[in-house]
Amino acid sequence: MSKIYQLLYLSQSSETFSMFRLDELLQKSRLNNKALNITGLLIYNAGFFLQFLEGDKSNVQMLYKKIQNDSRHGKVKILYEQKEDKRIFNEWDMAYKNVYDFNPQLSSLITNFIFAKSKKTTLTKKEDIKELFKAIIKEF
Ligand SMILES: Cc1cc2nc3c(=O)[nH]c(=O)nc-3n(C[C@H](O)[C@H](O)[C@H](O)COP(=O)(O)O)c2cc1C
Repeated sequence: MSKIYQLLYLSQSSETFSMFRLDELLQKSRLNNKALNITGLLIYNAGFFLQFLEGDKSNVQMLYKKIQNDSRHGKVKILYEQKEDKRIFNEWDMAYKNVYDFNPQLSSLITNFIFAKSKKTTLTKKEDIKELFKAIIKEF
């Protein structure tokens, strides 16, 4: 069985996203991702997008190239790339939450993670990132 390729990136939104515009983006993303058999998660936190994508490596990389060139955000940087046996978000074409919709403890973990990564100050072990996302999926 071929492995699942996972990619996590952080970016900064180029404008303030209204719920309506996010809804539009999510609807389109879910349709596209379903067709490509890509699953994942998008978190919005005060001007930052954290997105986790998983699926066939060539499909994920092709989609990432499109996303990277999207003018709705900038400063896109990859935080994590890994091959895994199993998907984390296998029931989600693109799950979405605002960071404040998580339980308070997880919400502050995610906020701290985004803040640290936006400043390039810390290295996070791949295992820790994986654990964070396993905790996140429990809230869906
Ligand atoms: C933060 C962010 C996340 C996105 N996530 C996805 C996604 O998961 N899937 C997707 O198809 N497009 C996503 N997009 C939109 C793509 O950049 C692009 O507009 C879209 O894939 C174009 O689809 P089309 O080729 O069918 O017109 C995202 C855009 C942004 C700004």
